[in-house]
Amino acid sequence: MIPTLIALLCLGLSVGPRTQVQAGTLPKPTIWAEPGSMILWGSPVTIWCQGTLKAQEFRVDKEGSTEPWYRQKPLEPGNKGKFPITRMTENTAGRYRCYYLNPAGWSEHSEPLELVVTGIYSKPYLLAQPSPDMTSGENVTLLCGSQEGFGIFILAKEGEHRPPWALDSQRHFSGNFQALFPVGPVTTSHRWTFKCYGRYRNIPEVWSQPSDTIELLVSGAADTISPSQNTSDPKSASHPQDYTVENLIRMGVAGMILVALGVLLFQAHHSSRETHDASRR
Ligand SMILES: *[C@@H]1O[C@H](CO)[C@@H](O)[C@H](O)[C@H]1NC(C)=O
Ligand SMILES: *[C@@H]1O[C@H](CO)[C@@H](O)[C@H](O)[C@H]1NC(C)=O
Repeated sequence: MIPTLIALLCLGLSVGPRTQVQAGTLPKPTIWAEPGSMILWGSPVTIWCQGTLKAQEFRVDKEGSTEPWYRQKPLEPGNKGKFPITRMTENTAGRYRCYYLNPAGWSEHSEPLELVVTGIYSKPYLLAQPSPDMTSGENVTLLCGSQEGFGIFILAKEGEHRPPWALDSQRHFSGNFQALFPVGPVTTSHRWTFKCYGRYRNIPEVWSQPSDTIELLVSGAADTISPSQNTSDPKSASHPQDYTVENLIRMGVAGMILVALGVLLFQAHHSSRETHDASRR
């Protein structure tokens, strides 16, 4: 809290004696980057700052720069500030915070935005160990490595908005640098597609080119069982019907045999009576 207050005081002083500094009275704005916060070298990106209240002016500071990096009056009345960067380079990579001015004074700083430039160093390799062919429920190790002496490797999963996963590198006996990312247990519910990057320890927002993409081919344990389930399901469903039909047939046959036996008995009895009667005559 105290560092924030000091920062705000300095800010207030730098802005001018008229600016009132009222820490905590204005909710902090949100900051984000479009199309994203990992930008290929040379590509454009836009930083946005949005406050909850109408703003007279927006400012964006870059960490490590003494001067306010960019200030802007909203083009039209609103609560959003737009800061376009036409070409992403090592110089525009870094941590940004924004804040806004309103009649009550300057707002608090936003959370930091980490704007990363990619494509600076040669791409690392990415391997799945033991193999990218997997069964649902299994774990796998993704190995990201390079001949460059990267201090950190970063694993990014496609379609995931969480910050990518960074691990310290280790020196392999081959002389390469690498990091092992344990992944899993995998499921068939979505695609498991990854890329990795390398970076040096002291320059956190400058990354290598992305590795080739790797996709884990997950065959569901359920898929291998379901065909047998499917073939057994219709049978088990039709079994009760089969039995009743069979039972009816059995009962019918038994009844017919009984009737036939009865007829035979009757005939035998009748004929014996006739022979008996005939002998009597
Ligand atoms: C996969 O890893 C998790 C921990 O991340 C562990 O609990 C689980 O037992 C592992 N599964 C297999 C099949 O090794
Ligand atoms: C097996 O059944 C599931 C639903 O229970 C169905 O989605 C699947 O297509 C079936 N597979 C075959 C080979 O019939």
